[in-house]
Amino acid sequence: MNIVVAPTVEAAGELAAELLDEQLRAGEAIGVATGSTPLPVYDALARRQRDGADYARASAWALDEYVGLPAEHPQTYRATLRREFASRIGLLDANLHVPDGAAEDAQRAAADYESAIAARGIAVQLLGVGANGHIGFNEPGSAADSLTRVVDLAERTRRDNARFFEGRLEEVPTRAITQGVATILRARRLVLLAYGVAKADAVAALVEGAIGVHCPASFVREHGDVHMIIDPAAASRLSSTTVRIPEEAAR
Ligand code: F6R
Repeated sequence: MNIVVAPTVEAAGELAAELLDEQLRAGEAIGVATGSTPLPVYDALARRQRDGADYARASAWALDEYVGLPAEHPQTYRATLRREFASRIGLLDANLHVPDGAAEDAQRAAADYESAIAARGIAVQLLGVGANGHIGFNEPGSAADSLTRVVDLAERTRRDNARFFEGRLEEVPTRAITQGVATILRARRLVLLAYGVAKADAVAALVEGAIGVHCPASFVREHGDVHMIIDPAAASRLSSTTVRIPEEAAR
């Protein structure tokens, strides 16, 4: 696992964008995340597109989607990815793929999404990590061989995400469709980002703890091509033997 401590969140976004740029230009499939973590990456990609990068042939595949929100809700991950990612980098809407969280049969929608991803193959998967060690919405307890499925969201995750619902916990869905751990690990390359002290324990557990279902993000260590880009605060609970924070990054 290649761990880079970037001096700022913006620098982390630039580094990650650099790892996605070639595949996007080549029209490959990339896996995208929602939440706060990928925003600096999407900002950096939008800058590159303004400067002439052509991403129109690429396709993007979401990690997850809430179950039960009406299709027109602004916080569905489809709406979020359209707004924060696809529309800003010139990706065609037809090439943005998100599980159908409004489907009558959510299990079926999850299985269909799993088949579509398996058929396409993801070149690079962008990941954030939950404070409880989740990736996608694979909450603690999720197995290494899990596939795309309907899951219950952990209470901690719902509380963390209430900020996207004007702080109203009761409006945060209780279920989601998520790519499984095995689905995520099939991507040829993983780019995992984390910032802030709130992620420091999860980062330490994922890098230095035991690999297991208590911290589904720890399974990324079983992948051969992982780039982890974190800021000094997220790196602050790693032992110094694992990672040395460059002096300019610590300032
Ligand atoms: C988002 C996702 C989640 C988030 C994680 C971190 O599609 O699957 O795993 O990456 O919850 O969220 P933020 O970035 O908001 O801290």
